[in-house]
Amino acid sequence: MLSREENELLTRVHAGSLMGGLFRRYWIPALLAEEIPNPDCPPVRVRLLGEDLVAFRDTQGKIGLLDEHCSHRGTSLFYGRNEECGLRCIYHGWKYDVGGNVLETPAEPAGSQLKNKVHHNAYPCVEAGGMVFTYMGARNEIPIFPTYAWLGVPQDQIYIAKSLLECSYLQGLDGDCDSAHLNYLHKMFKPDARREFLRHEDQSPAFEIDEMDFGFTVAAIRKVAPDKSYVRISQFVMPFIGCVPVGREVDGKLDGFKAVYQVPADDHNTWRYDFFFKWSKPMSKEDSSKRDFVGADYRKLRNVRNNYLQDRQVQKTVNFTGIEEFLNQDACATESMGAIVDRSKEHLGVSDSYIIQVRRFLLKALKDLQAGRQPPGLVYDSSQADFSRIRCDVAYLASDVSWRTLFEVDTMGQSEKA
Ligand code: FES
Ligand SMILES: [Fe+2]
Repeated sequence: MLSREENELLTRVHAGSLMGGLFRRYWIPALLAEEIPNPDCPPVRVRLLGEDLVAFRDTQGKIGLLDEHCSHRGTSLFYGRNEECGLRCIYHGWKYDVGGNVLETPAEPAGSQLKNKVHHNAYPCVEAGGMVFTYMGARNEIPIFPTYAWLGVPQDQIYIAKSLLECSYLQGLDGDCDSAHLNYLHKMFKPDARREFLRHEDQSPAFEIDEMDFGFTVAAIRKVAPDKSYVRISQFVMPFIGCVPVGREVDGKLDGFKAVYQVPADDHNTWRYDFFFKWSKPMSKEDSSKRDFVGADYRKLRNVRNNYLQDRQVQKTVNFTGIEEFLNQDACATESMGAIVDRSKEHLGVSDSYIIQVRRFLLKALKDLQAGRQPPGLVYDSSQADFSRIRCDVAYLASDVSWRTLFEVDTMGQSEKA
């Protein structure tokens, strides 16, 4: 439960809001690289942290992310011409490069200095792992780009499902940090090898949470025999990434996992990126087909307007919800709360410990920011940039063995591999 004021603080993300200021200190996903696949391809609209932007890839392949509205008189640059290393407004031909410099103002008289007096707002971009990341904060505070393990995997071993979640990012994040819902919302009545954890009878796992400099490590521990536990280790990574241990095991090790980004488009909408990868081999066709649940604009085909095409017969016999696909099930659970749920009316239990911790952590980060302290997880010194600790895992353990020991050993192994 949060007070109304705290809820308000955490869910407002536009420029000038406190949370918006915190998010603007991090590199965050802006779009998929495939949305602007080639040099000089059509630009696309990007709504991010309440701002309307346009992304384009110039003739040399460089990516620009500009304010959508032309600095001259406001025409949308989405309709612009992407040509010869710049985006040209269709109204009077002003042309911008990826840095927001005005290259030409062709309707002005020869010798006009107007173009040198105007700078169009532009955000720096980095392309990694099939995504384009941007930094929207003050230029003197740009942190080192975090090279998480999953961003270094070959592209054919990755699939990314992008979808619009029609509610606040915090509802999405609450869902990522909620291991207990797996036994209900995502339950299938037939056993499914990919969902090992759903087979276990202990449906109320014990949680152990370790605070880290970048967020948290969380172990969900289920007893599967008197002397044996099944442990799922997740992480919350600032500012809105949930690393979830899903996927098959190869030789007793988890073969990759999923990093879920809940990126606020604005206060009421979220771009959800499910970044799933395998360490060992390329994705299969079956894995990649999981993107079919959205249209070309990344909006879900099953959505709140058609009740997610819930099938009550399927709900009786096939799965718990009568709704197909994990992401649609998550969306139904989180969107049906309303765009911004009133958290002052919640009744949280032990199974919500992780959610409580994450909210506390975010509120503390806001307080720190207000007090002029550096937000968690940002790295400015390359000698301190070690992102290999950020990952997750699953394991069967004897009851007297701590998951922490195992995780430390694994972490070292993983760093060697990275
Ligand atoms: S409004 Fe864009 S060039 Fe005039
Ligand atoms: Fe879920």
